[in-house]
Amino acid sequence: PVDVGAAPAAGSEVAKKVKIGVYFATWWALNVVFNIYNKKVLNAFPYPWLTSTLSLAAGSLIMLVSWATRIAEAPKTDLDFWKTLLPVALAHTIGHVAATVSMSKVAVSFTHIIKSGEPAFSVLVSRFLLGETFPAAVYFSLLPIIGGCALAAVTELNFNMTGFMGAMISNLAFVFRNIFSKKGMKGKSVSGMNYYACLSILSLIILTPFAVAVEGPQMWAAGWQKALSDIGPHIVWWVAAQSVFYHLYNQVSYMSLDEISPLTFSIGNTMKRISVIVSSIIIFHTPVQPVNALGAAIAILGTFLYSQASTLTLRYSFITV
Ligand code: 3PG
Repeated sequence: PVDVGAAPAAGSEVAKKVKIGVYFATWWALNVVFNIYNKKVLNAFPYPWLTSTLSLAAGSLIMLVSWATRIAEAPKTDLDFWKTLLPVALAHTIGHVAATVSMSKVAVSFTHIIKSGEPAFSVLVSRFLLGETFPAAVYFSLLPIIGGCALAAVTELNFNMTGFMGAMISNLAFVFRNIFSKKGMKGKSVSGMNYYACLSILSLIILTPFAVAVEGPQMWAAGWQKALSDIGPHIVWWVAAQSVFYHLYNQVSYMSLDEISPLTFSIGNTMKRISVIVSSIIIFHTPVQPVNALGAAIAILGTFLYSQASTLTLRYSFITV
């Protein structure tokens, strides 16, 4: 009887790992495509507040149509759900627009090198705002993350303060987004996919007036004329691609957040940046100095050490509880 019972359990464990592996691979691949089209659009049409809004609008539209046509089942939500979603949406909006502003000012690879420092923000927020404590190994693992990001920043050939600060603000905002999201999804009746859809809709409502105030239709019209004459009509497809792929990669990432801890999520997210950094350097012929690449490598290695230290902490707390 033991064997009979053990086989399905082991099988379902393997199936779960395969499922998460497929989610992660899809998430990373979609993210690489998003980053490439996003930068192509920003190079020709440098209006990050509008392109961020369009990404959210595309996601909202896709999901509203999917619900209306019953391709996806619409979530059952109440006022409490939307109230709890509000801080998540605020953090998502700030993190999204800040990252896009950053990428409009600096190379995609630079934004993502700085964004690989997200685990450090996660620990600092948990420590100083939530009062959580960590063993020394976790704090030590932050040294290469912070040191590597700093080395990459000071040796970046095209350093720009807005680009740097945008990536830093995005890090901070997304740490809050992930903490609040996981709390909001706990004991939920709303799936990861629908949770992200609602998040897009609420973020779109928040961001639209700010996009109009910061950039506005006049700037957009003039910029669009220029982009059309520089690139030609296929810029429309680039904008569509960056918007749709933004939604798709985030949707898949939330489907995986459904199954994993925020810690595993943020480690997966940092590992994702390796593929974005490498592919964008190749595609955009970004000049990289050896010392600059060394900084990025140290930061990524730091994330790996951080993941090891944090996993040990989790195991240790299970043993001692
Ligand atoms: C955005 O525009 O939201 C960022 O490019 C996303 O950053 P992420 O890689 O952390 O999802």
